[in-house]
Amino acid sequence: MKTDDLSPNFSSEKTTSFTKEDATSRLWQGVVKRRSFLKGLGVAGAALSAGALLTGESEGQSSASLSKGDVAILQFLSAAEIIETDLWLQYTELGGTQDAEESGVNGGSPLYMKALQILDGDMPQYIHDNTDDEISHFEFINAYLISKGADPVNLDQFRTLPSSKATGARDLGRLTNLMNLTVDTSFWSRYRIGVANPDLDPKFVFPQAVKIVNRTAIPRTDEDLEGPSKIAPFDVPDHLKAIAFTAGFHFAFIEQGGTSLYPSLAQRVSNAEVLRVLLSIGPTETCHFQTWQDKAGNALHLTDVDPVTGATVTFPDLHTNQPESLQANLIMPEPTDFLSHKFPACSVIRPTHTKGVAMGAARALTADGLFIGQSPDFFKALHALAEAADAAQRGF
Ligand SMILES: [Fe+2]
Ligand SMILES: [Fe+2]
Repeated sequence: MKTDDLSPNFSSEKTTSFTKEDATSRLWQGVVKRRSFLKGLGVAGAALSAGALLTGESEGQSSASLSKGDVAILQFLSAAEIIETDLWLQYTELGGTQDAEESGVNGGSPLYMKALQILDGDMPQYIHDNTDDEISHFEFINAYLISKGADPVNLDQFRTLPSSKATGARDLGRLTNLMNLTVDTSFWSRYRIGVANPDLDPKFVFPQAVKIVNRTAIPRTDEDLEGPSKIAPFDVPDHLKAIAFTAGFHFAFIEQGGTSLYPSLAQRVSNAEVLRVLLSIGPTETCHFQTWQDKAGNALHLTDVDPVTGATVTFPDLHTNQPESLQANLIMPEPTDFLSHKFPACSVIRPTHTKGVAMGAARALTADGLFIGQSPDFFKALHALAEAADAAQRGF
């Protein structure tokens, strides 16, 4: 596929649901303004780009243009960050610290926050801050693309999925669906089992920490805030506890994805500054992942049957009587074979292979249920970006 066919700027006139107060919209307007400024000078963005936004910061890497592959990698990462931002904003509206730093928050859902705080008292703050980070990631990558004369990514036309109707959530179109998640929790044992590395042992099946199928991670309506409570804290219904614990594991699932995606794609980057971008953003995803897996391990032993879908989830007590592959406090990556079985075991991020990783990320997010309800055009756009990123080669 030619890069020309990608049409990465998926914007449309339909994007009216975001208010001026909305963080992503505000940031995007800033990006567009800067771009219009360049065009208004009657000079192609590419000609002005090197100094316009990153003046003097690039330490000799002031090339005005990037390779087709580097642009494709950055565009896919921008799309991934926009998707992350969309889901994190939904979490922060209901469960994040409600302050002026985060636009669009309106008191949240205090009982949902209380349920999240069973995992850790700081959960609302961490949710708020993870959201901030994702906004900054896509804003930076888009601005960087523009500075190099390349098209940024805008997925606004696909913000068509419904919001939660629970008190605290804004009523606007979303890119992602947090209400029918099937969370792959095999990342849990993947980092705790040393005898297999998915890069070297692709057939090894890493056990799930929890089986989460077709479950909501946010209250869908205020009815999700109701129900009996058989275990402490008794002022938080057990159904809502299960929703919060689902969110806890989902946070870690999302962020371990970024933890692998960045180092994998970095190996296909050509330009040293683009490499610096990937190597500097990627580890922040790992910071998130490490925090979230520590918190998710505090889920209480609990079974809940969803009154709407009938889907059952059982959270085990991961603190007691668990094998090492599941034990809650074993959050440091267990050393495993890396590159070859002939080398001594090494504590590493895994997987980090490079073949088809962008499409793999798109598929993993799809299997997660995040895009249930999305249009065929959305998948076409996402897959086009992923294919182009996966076609990138070092040096081209
Ligand atoms: Fe991110
Ligand atoms: Fe992230």
